[in-house]
Amino acid sequence: MPDDIRKTLIARAMAARARAYAPYSNYRVGAALLAGSGKIYDGANVENAVYPVGICAERTALVKAVSEGERRFEVIAVATHNGGSPCGMCRQMLSEFGLDLKVFLVDGAGVVVHETTLRDLLPRAFGPADLKDEG
Ligand code: THU
Repeated sequence: MPDDIRKTLIARAMAARARAYAPYSNYRVGAALLAGSGKIYDGANVENAVYPVGICAERTALVKAVSEGERRFEVIAVATHNGGSPCGMCRQMLSEFGLDLKVFLVDGAGVVVHETTLRDLLPRAFGPADLKDEG
């Protein structure tokens, strides 16, 4: 990963975090997702007065990208104040498009506190291949 792209991803995740709508938890999250096309799609968490209706930053970014036609993804940077990790629902939704996705967890100072892959975050994932006909 070229250093300039890495820096851009981190900056985009942090900038998205600043746009989070999180009046209930006050836990602001930003994500920046690098697609196979080279484009970066960002997203923030958007909460709701009906709490379960809110959406995480990672899924916001993914839905933006997939609805623009993207299907391949290389890296996601996730920015929080404490380097928090993607929730299970986000891991599952991202896994639909491949487990080789690199994941950078970024803290409030822009430091990558952990670098991993979706495969490590979601072992023995249930995916499209599991839905083959029972025969
Ligand atoms: N949140 C995310 O945006 N991404 C995660 O992976 C973890 C949690 C959001 C959801 C909610 O708006 C707030 O953080 C607290 O859970």
